[in-house]
Amino acid sequence: MGLELAGEVEATGEEVKNFRRGDQVFAFTGFYFGAYAEYKCMAEDGAAKTDGLVTKKPENLSFREAAAVPSGGLTALGIIRKADIKKDQKVLIYGASGSIGTYAVQLAKVFGGRVTGVCSTSNLEMVSSLGADAVIDYTKEDFTKSGEKYDVIIDAVHKKSRAFCKRALKNGGVFLSAHSSTVPGLEDLIFLRELLEADKIRPVIDRCYPIEQVADAHRYVDQGRKKGNVVLTLD
Ligand SMILES: NC(=O)c1ccc[n+]([C@@H]2O[C@H](COP(=O)([O-])OP(=O)(O)OC[C@H]3O[C@@H](n4cnc5c(N)ncnc54)[C@H](OP(=O)(O)O)[C@@H]3O)[C@@H](O)[C@H]2O)c1
Repeated sequence: MGLELAGEVEATGEEVKNFRRGDQVFAFTGFYFGAYAEYKCMAEDGAAKTDGLVTKKPENLSFREAAAVPSGGLTALGIIRKADIKKDQKVLIYGASGSIGTYAVQLAKVFGGRVTGVCSTSNLEMVSSLGADAVIDYTKEDFTKSGEKYDVIIDAVHKKSRAFCKRALKNGGVFLSAHSSTVPGLEDLIFLRELLEADKIRPVIDRCYPIEQVADAHRYVDQGRKKGNVVLTLD
C-alpha cells in the first residue's frame, strides 16, 4: 500500500547514475504501491504507471513534509496544466481544503490565475493562507447562485457535476474534476520540487500517525474531512 514517500537511498544498482547511498529523495511509487514498506525498490528513470517516479527531496522540506507532496501535488499539477490557465483568468477551486485542493489553489496562482477557493467554515483561513484571492464558505453560500462567472472551475473533491457548475462557468469556460488529471512524468515531480524550494507552494499536513496506527490513519482519511494531507511515519 501507499503511493508516495520520502526517505534515504539505502543502496543503488551498478548502473545507477543519479543517486547514491544516503541521498534524500521523495517519490511517487506508481500503481505498484509499496510506500508503506520500510524499503522500496525504484528505478531511477521509471514511469508513473509502473515503477514510479523518484527524485531528490526538496532541501527545505522535512521527510514528513516531502512525503505529503507527490500524489496530491502531481494530480493537481496535471489538472491545472489541462486547464491551461491564462494570466488573470478567474479560477474556482471547489473542495479547496483537501490534498488536491490545497495544491490546486497554489498551482493555479503559480500559473497566473485569480483564485477563489470553496471550502467549509473551519478551512476558510487555511485556504486564504495558501494565496487564494477569495474564499467562499459552501455551508453558507452556493457559488453557482452568486452571479459570478469563472473561466475555469475545478472540483478537487469530485462532489459536483459539470451540469451543476455550468451556471457559474463563462461561455467557453473549462470544467475539470479531481479525476481529470494526466499521467505525470519525472519532469513534473522535479517541477514541484523547484516550486517547493522557491516557496511558491507548500504541503498542508493535517495529522501524522506512526505506521503502527495505520488503521486509525485510514479511518480518519476515510471520513473525507482531512485538511490537506495525512502522513505515516516509520521512525
Ligand atoms: N489525494 C490524491 O493523491 C488523489 C489522487 C488522485 C485522485 N484522487 C481523488 O480525488 C478526490 C479528492 O481527493 P483528496 O485526497 O484531495 O481529498 P481529501 O483530501 O480526502 O478531501 C478532504 C477535504 O474535502 C472537503 N470536503 C468534503 N466534502 C466536501 C463537499 N461536499 N464540498 C466541498 N468540500 C468537501 C473537506 O473539507 P470540509 O470538511 O471542510 O468539507 C476536506 O478538507 C477523491 O475522489 C480521490 O479519490 C486523490
